Parts: sequence; C-alpha cells; structure tokens
Amino acid sequence: METTESSYRMPFKEAAKALYDGRKRGAQVAYFIGGEITLHPDLPKIIAFAKKVDYPYIQVMSNALKLSDYGYTKTLIDAGANLFKISLHGYTAKIHDGLVGVPGAYAKIIKAFENIRELGAEITINYTLNKFNYKTIHKFTELITEKFKIEDFNIIFPHYTGMMKDNAQTLKVSVSQAEPYLRKMLDVLEKSKAKVENAILINFCPCNLPRATHLMTEWERPDADLKDEPMYHLEGYTERIYQMKEELRTKNKSCAKCVYDKRCMGFEKWYVDIFGAKEFKPVIKRVKPVNTRSTDSKIKEFKSMEVS
Ligand SMILES: C[S@@+](CC[C@H](N)C(=O)[O-])C[C@H]1O[C@@H](n2cnc3c(N)ncnc32)[C@H](O)[C@@H]1O
Ligand code: SF4
Repeated sequence: METTESSYRMPFKEAAKALYDGRKRGAQVAYFIGGEITLHPDLPKIIAFAKKVDYPYIQVMSNALKLSDYGYTKTLIDAGANLFKISLHGYTAKIHDGLVGVPGAYAKIIKAFENIRELGAEITINYTLNKFNYKTIHKFTELITEKFKIEDFNIIFPHYTGMMKDNAQTLKVSVSQAEPYLRKMLDVLEKSKAKVENAILINFCPCNLPRATHLMTEWERPDADLKDEPMYHLEGYTERIYQMKEELRTKNKSCAKCVYDKRCMGFEKWYVDIFGAKEFKPVIKRVKPVNTRSTDSKIKEFKSMEVS
C-alpha cells in the first residue's frame, strides 16, 4: 500500500494480518516504507509481529530523522528490524538539507548511522539523482564507501511522475547530463578497495552507461535466473514488479539493433514526455565492464511484503 497522507495510520491488526498472509505465501522480506514509516506509533509492535512470524529480513525505509534518537532506534532493532534503508541525497549537509528542506537533517543521518551500527543492524542508502546532486555523485560514492564503509546503496534515476513530474522544471536531470558524473563515480568505484553490492543503479538502461550494466537492476526482463517475484500489498493484491515496470516503458525502433534488445524492457514513458527518446541509442558491441569489487545482493530478488 502506498500512501503519503499524514493522517493515515494502518491499524496494527490490519498490518499483522497482511504480514502473516505474506509470510504464508513465502515472502522473506518485510519492507516498511512510507510516507515516513517512523511516524507510525505502532511501528515497533508491527515489527515485533514480523519477527514473530519469522521474516528473515525486516527493512525500515526512512529519512532517519527519528533514527538519530538512540533509544528509538534500539526499540526498532530490539523488536526485530535488521536493515535500514536511509535516504541521503547529498554528500554535504548543504546539499542534503537543502533538498529535504530540513536544517540539521544530514547531521541526524550521521548520528543514525552510528546508532544503527552500534546496535548491530545493516545500513543501505537511497540517493535520488536530481539537478542539485548529480554533479557530485562521485563524491557521494567516495563518502559512502570509504568513510562509512557501506556496501549497499542505490543511485536512483528519477521517475518523472508524481512530485518529481510536478517539480521537473526545478529538479530535472537528463541521462546525458548525468552521464559524465556517473563515469566519475565508476572511476571512484574502480579505484576503491571497497566492496559494493552488484545492483546499485536503479532505473537506468544499459545504453546510458554500458560499462556499468552489471551494476544495474530492474532493467531486464526476468529469465530463468531472475524470477519476477511477487510484491504483496496490504490490500491483498499482488504485483509482479517487472511486469508492472515493463508496462510503463517503451522503446525506440533502433533498439532492435541493440545487443541488449531481447533482455531490455526499455525506458520510461514519463522520461520521454519530458526529454524525448533520442538519448537512447543502441549498444552495437558489448564493452568491458567496469571492474568493481562486487558482492551479491542479499535481498533484492526476494519475495516481499510491503507495509506502508
Ligand atoms: C517512499 S520514498 C520515501 C520514504 C522515506 N520517507 C524516506 O525518506 O526514505 C523512498 C525513496 O524514493 C525516492 N523517491 C521518491 N520519489 C521518487 C521519484 N519520483 N523518482 C525516484 N525516486 C524517488 C525518495 O527520494 C526516497 O529515497
Ligand atoms: S534496447 Fe534500447 S533502451 Fe535498451 S539498452 Fe538498448 S538502446 Fe537502450
């Protein structure tokens, strides 16, 4: 269930039922997403229920403002949360605080990192590209891998829908604008001794950055190795992530010449509405992949139960 209405609070009973049903259907990951899920007063109780019904992975996605409070973070981890996905959109306080509109937010994230580490849970990061942070993506990568030793982070290319569409004139960045800085990011990763998970680039197509195809996820159709695992929603319906993504995408005629054509689902129609489709040019020959020290993604392809 997706809602950003601050007045909406999923009752404990409903969340517990959905978690129970999801686990019975084989879900291994309980995702707690938002809005901002830490504003839910029953979150510790709901997490404890997820733990009781034996989800191996219990992930909380958050802006980390409340996680800067050691006592609150301990409550969630004691209840069973073992993964925290934190939104950090800049390598400096100036960039991040400016983007989220909260002075001091960056400092709270750094404190949240300390709390989560000390309490023994894992940290992953979401970094959503936009006009204010795309030129420093390489610096962000350096900070995350070298200073904070975080292996799992997502660089999300914006989906031009919802608020992102409404604010596109202020925030928009095209794949061609981002490309030189993404190359710098790959240089950082290649030189670094840090290990990174093998699925860090979200909502990119191989033709945007062919040397990093192995670091991209959710661009290709599922095959025998990559199942279109279901995502169970609280209302009881189930979505197949890749099927849903493919329906939102399109291709150019010239894609037929691309070495990735059979596997690739194409690029988002929302992107085309703003920038057109001429930047997506076929990859005629495979190129040598950038040499990163990759580890396998732990949970990205599992069945999941999403609670928001
Ligand atoms: C459900 S949202 C926000 C959840 C939580 N309150 C937080 O701050 O992480 C999760 C992530 O999606 C990103 N996001 C939101 N809208 C997006 C869009 N249109 N395209 C790409 N990423 C987006 C946000 O930046 C955030 O990192
Ligand atoms: S098939 Fe088309 S969209 Fe996909 S990588 Fe090739 S050129 Fe890009």
